This record gives sequence, structure tokens and C-alpha cells, in this order.
Amino acid sequence: MNDSSQAAPPRAEDVAEMREEYRRAGLEAHDLDPDPFAQFAAWFQEAVARGAPEPNAMTLATATRDGTPSARVVLLKGFDERGFTFYTNYESRKGRELAENPRAAIVFYWAGLERQVRIGGVVERVSREESEAYFRSRPRGSRLGAWASRQSEPIAGRAILEERLRAVEEEFRDGEVPIPPFWGGYRLSPTGFEFWQGRPNRLHDRFRYTRGMGAGGRSRGCRREGVVSVEHLAREYPFTVHAEPEGGYVIVFPDLPGCMTQVESLEEVGPAAEEIRALWIETEYEAGEEIPLPSYPE
Ligand SMILES: Cc1cc2nc3c(=O)[nH]c(=O)nc-3n(C[C@H](O)[C@H](O)[C@H](O)COP(=O)(O)O)c2cc1C
Repeated sequence: MNDSSQAAPPRAEDVAEMREEYRRAGLEAHDLDPDPFAQFAAWFQEAVARGAPEPNAMTLATATRDGTPSARVVLLKGFDERGFTFYTNYESRKGRELAENPRAAIVFYWAGLERQVRIGGVVERVSREESEAYFRSRPRGSRLGAWASRQSEPIAGRAILEERLRAVEEEFRDGEVPIPPFWGGYRLSPTGFEFWQGRPNRLHDRFRYTRGMGAGGRSRGCRREGVVSVEHLAREYPFTVHAEPEGGYVIVFPDLPGCMTQVESLEEVGPAAEEIRALWIETEYEAGEEIPLPSYPE
């Protein structure tokens, strides 16, 4: 193809003008599995199937004891109902922060699908056996690299790193590369999930799952007990869906005092909430009226 036929790439100085209009898909409560782990699995599989680059890359945010945050990208290496597993150097900055403050957040962004998943929770080291089993599955070069790299420690130059790599290659020349004592896995056990689907005009669909109050506490238990609560957070219009123990769902609109409605099934949640949203926008603004800059409660 002739180069002149292609649109010019955006210039870095035009950053304020860079924006995408998200039109791919809407998200309704009935599209979502009541179990957030199953919902994550479905979206993750879709990201893999659609060829998202590094679909298991996630931003991991940690913080010091006094709340100073730091974030970096790591790779998800497994997930199940216990949580989300990643591997790293326990003496790295993230390792040190997790030792003093075990709360963390992870974010997946699949640009091609216009989707984001945010998960917050509590982090623990995985068992030594689990770390060892994963370490053994890594290519030899990565295993040697784990020994050579004292993550997050400044070094005088790359040559030092390469020298260390040569030294560990020499040390383990004749045999297996054992797992370093300072290296292993962590598992983030979720306390909440948010599934985000980009929509036109920045009215994105966001559904938040929070751990219910029922006995057992964990989200999987919540499903059985019918107390998982899913919150819809389209930016100007949040609502919460509560599963009733007797069956059916109550939709509550926290910014509209006293406004709630009841539906029989999850399929009805989206349309019922949409109907109330449309009614609200209609009554709030006249046609052609300038819509003021929104202010959000703290
Ligand atoms: C795509 C990608 C994947 C990465 N995966 C990992 C990983 O799984 N584990 C890890 O320790 N660092 C990984 N890193 C490097 C981290 O981003 C980071 O530089 C390193 O862990 C040191 O972070 P810290 O000093 O905040 O502890 C990855 C980086 C990128 C860009």
C-alpha cells in the first residue's frame, strides 16, 4: 500500500486530542455471570481468543505501610477460586511493600476489546511447593535470570548483570537450576472486582462485585447464598443489584434517594435500569440545554 494513502499517526504533542470512541459492545447485568471468577474466566478466554497482546499482563499496585503507592506490570500465571497468582523476587520493591502491607490491586486492560478488569484484595505467598513446581516449568534462561537479578536494586551497569548471569551459568553448569530462596509466587485473594466495558460518550458500563455478608464470605459462597451484590457504575448513573434470599433482585439507585425497583430475573435488570436512566435524563434536562459539568460525591 502507498504510504501517502495512510492517515498520519498522531503526534505526541497532541496527547490531549487522543481519544477513542468505544462502540464495540454494551454490558448488561444479564451478560454477567453471578460468579466474578467465572466472569473473569470468560473475558480472559475472549481476550486470548481475539489475540490480545500479552493478555495475561496486568498492572499490579502495591503500597508501603504509610500508603505510598507503586505500580508495575507483571504476568498472571494462574487463577482459580482462591485467587490470582504471579511470580517475582520477594526482595524486590513490590516484595518489600507486600511484606509490610499485604493489600494490593491488579488491573487488566484489553484495548482491542475495550475492556478493563480491576481486582483488589489481600496478597499471600503461595506454598513453596507451588513456587517450585512453577519454577521448574520455566525455561532454563529465565531460571538463571532469577538468580542473576536482584530486582529493584540499582546496579552500576548492564555489564554487572551479564557478569552475574555468566557466574550463575558457571555455578549451575552441570545440573538443575534450583529455585532461589528469594524468589516465588504470590496469590491475590480478591475482595472486589470491577468489570469495565467502554461505551460511547464516556458513559462506560462498569459492574462491581463486592464480597457479600453471608456466612462463608468468599464470592463463591456468596453465589450459593444469593447475597452477591453487583453494582452498575455507568459514570453518571450508578445502581446496585441485590439478590434477594427469597428470589428476585432489587435494583437500588444510590444517587436518587428512595429510588429502587424490583425484578424477577437478572435478564430484566439491564432493561429496567435503562428505563429508569432514560426517564431520569429526560426529566433532568430540557432538549438543547447545556449539560453542566458533573460533580461527584467524594
Ligand atoms: C509485560 C511485562 C511483564 C512482566 N512480568 C513480570 C513478572 O511476571 N514478574 C516480575 O517480577 N516482573 C515482571 N515484569 C517486570 C516488572 O514490571 C518490574 O520491572 C519488576 O518486577 C520490578 O518491579 P518493582 O521494583 O516495583 O518490584 C514485567 C514487565 C513487563 C513489561
